[in-house]
Amino acid sequence: MVDTKTQYHKIKSQVDAAILEVMESSAFINGKAVHDFASHLSSYQGAKHTVPCANGTDALQIAMMALGLQPGDEVITPSFTYIATTEVIALLRLTPVFAEVDSRTFCIDPTELEKAITPKTKAIVPVHLYGHAAPMEEIMDIAKKHNLYVIEDNAQAIGCDYLYSNGSKKKTGTIGHIGTTSFYPSKNLGAFGDGGAVLTDDDTLADKIKMIANHGQSKRYYHDIVGCNSRLDTIQAAILDIKLNHLDEYIAERRKAADFYDKAFANNKRLKVPFRAGYSNHVFHQYTLIIDEMNDPRGYRDGLNQFLSENKIPSMIYYPVPGHKQKRFEHLDVAAKSMPVTDWLTERVISLPMHTELDEEQLEFITDKVNEYTGK
Ligand SMILES: Cc1ncc(COP(=O)(O)O)c(C=O)c1O
Repeated sequence: MVDTKTQYHKIKSQVDAAILEVMESSAFINGKAVHDFASHLSSYQGAKHTVPCANGTDALQIAMMALGLQPGDEVITPSFTYIATTEVIALLRLTPVFAEVDSRTFCIDPTELEKAITPKTKAIVPVHLYGHAAPMEEIMDIAKKHNLYVIEDNAQAIGCDYLYSNGSKKKTGTIGHIGTTSFYPSKNLGAFGDGGAVLTDDDTLADKIKMIANHGQSKRYYHDIVGCNSRLDTIQAAILDIKLNHLDEYIAERRKAADFYDKAFANNKRLKVPFRAGYSNHVFHQYTLIIDEMNDPRGYRDGLNQFLSENKIPSMIYYPVPGHKQKRFEHLDVAAKSMPVTDWLTERVISLPMHTELDEEQLEFITDKVNEYTGK
């Protein structure tokens, strides 16, 4: 699905030198590169504060802890996403409440979100799934009306521009009260291991986030609040700092591959190519098709998955089981039990290889095989 090796080889000399520099400095934890990268990411994103941490799941946990959410508080999030968001809500003994997504954008549907609000609701965690922004303008209006916090899960959409109806723009992850992201190697900005970050414009929240990520201390060995140990190590920060300079190129490569796919599938009636809402500048963490077949959609989609695999083409189902159908969460009756849009999508989505190193020959081979199976 990704080709991080070829991507590395294109910037090998810079990356190797940066790693060696950290090794020579031996400041493996909290070294200069961690601060440099945080500052550069803040500038890139247009955020006042960036607090690096160990991974994107920790970033969500730290964000929820910083907001002072209490056990029993309800947090609304989509069911159609990676489990990290819901898992962290449950881990903190908060109550996840699932809201439906829009079948075109794959992101939380504002109307459904508002329906899910109860007197216990304290926060909303929209996810910018596959690199497409959730409708933040509407989400922020709802949050304001009901006095709720918003944490944007930006793990899949770093670099995405959100275009407001008045023409202004902001990066996703900087619109809510807090934004979180992941530097998992396959992400658009991927480390050579784990990494994550929490972003905010709020000075008080930023101080709390820093403390929580560092055992609840602002002064060494003085622990004012309960925190955790979540650090981005210096080697990862040094690598990410170099890769951040290339992020816009990487996104451009992803968009080029997406356009190739779109064109190749333009006349294929069985496939729905990814929708781009006018407010979102898609960064294509994933290129996800909806493939519809009347009688047995899941079987047909899984058949394509298998057919591609037999032709040595990777493809993935993100995600085969939505949150509300997971064993751990299926008991939740505060959530909408029936999630027809999420269930419909779960049976029909399939993601094709998407990364910065796809060449035309590969894209042609992939699209030919997809069209062959789907009987274009
Ligand atoms: C939407 C979303 N949120 C959170 C995460 C968690 O990030 P990490 O794997 O760095 O903990 C991921 C990672 O796959 C993700 O896709």
